Amino acid sequence: MTNLGLVSDRIRWDEKALIRAAAKAGIDLKVIDPKTTYMNTASNAEDLEMKFGEVVIQRCVSYFRGLHITAILENSGLQVINSFDVSLTCGNKLFTTLALSKAGIPAPKTLIAFTDKGVSKALEELGYPAVMKPVVGSWGRLIALIRDKDSAQAIVESRERISNALMQIYYLQEYVKRPPRDIRVLVIGDEAVAASYRYSSEDEWRTNVARGGTSKPCPITSELEEIALKAADAVGNGVLAVDCMESPRGILVHEINSTVEFRGLYSATKVDIPGKIIKYAMEMKKK
Ligand SMILES: Nc1ncnc2c1ncn2[C@@H]1O[C@H](COP(=O)(O)OP(=O)(O)O)[C@@H](O)[C@H]1O
Ligand SMILES: [Mg+2]
Repeated sequence: MTNLGLVSDRIRWDEKALIRAAAKAGIDLKVIDPKTTYMNTASNAEDLEMKFGEVVIQRCVSYFRGLHITAILENSGLQVINSFDVSLTCGNKLFTTLALSKAGIPAPKTLIAFTDKGVSKALEELGYPAVMKPVVGSWGRLIALIRDKDSAQAIVESRERISNALMQIYYLQEYVKRPPRDIRVLVIGDEAVAASYRYSSEDEWRTNVARGGTSKPCPITSELEEIALKAADAVGNGVLAVDCMESPRGILVHEINSTVEFRGLYSATKVDIPGKIIKYAMEMKKK
């Protein structure tokens, strides 16, 4: 029988739900907090398996911490959900956009610039309003709605002062004329298991639950299912939240989340998401 681990640097509602689901399934889940331990890069598979399990659900809030842990675990042959490649792609909005583009999946028009000059040229092409996002980030943080050239300039100037090279990769996107909601589809393996609308709160344009957005059930139409499954496939599959917007030209995928926060989706749909994630992990075969 596969033995299972959960790596988590913060036990949130979601991790508690996974721990409960594992207990319900009679699985002795190994819960590892990477903040209180260290890892040996030369560990063999047996040693790592004893500590982490044969299959590991990696749920670090810190993208870079999670990615580096996954690299060590996979290097010794352990199976990680999600895999290094999937996490790397989904954790970076540019890499995700490239994967979607390669697979021909509809997405908002996105331009990338590296300096203030490039940004102003890109915005001339996109028009206003436009959206600027950090390539690595979540919860709607630092995502700006740019209404004119002056505000673009102010944002670029403040970003230039941040000593984080990623902040000087300017990810610029058309503003999608959508209803005040987006759609989150949870894909586990090759199944779209649940979907919710996320409505933005009154004083906020972003729909993130972390920004006060509320989740409501969303029917999984065949169009939505097809796009979500193709999008999950384009980044390499796993446990993924495919986020989309309803645009005048149909559904557009704007983001795929690899460490899925499913609380809102669960409360809206009552689908047993933690149970399904545990089942998926248990069914994973050792390579
Ligand atoms: N191009 C866009 N047009 C309109 N709204 C957008 C656009 N991009 C993002 N948003 C809104 O901002 C939210 C956060 O953007 P997203 O790309 O999902 O970043 P994050 O990783 O921070 O959640 C989205 O859920 C959506 O409500
Ligand atoms: Mg998002």
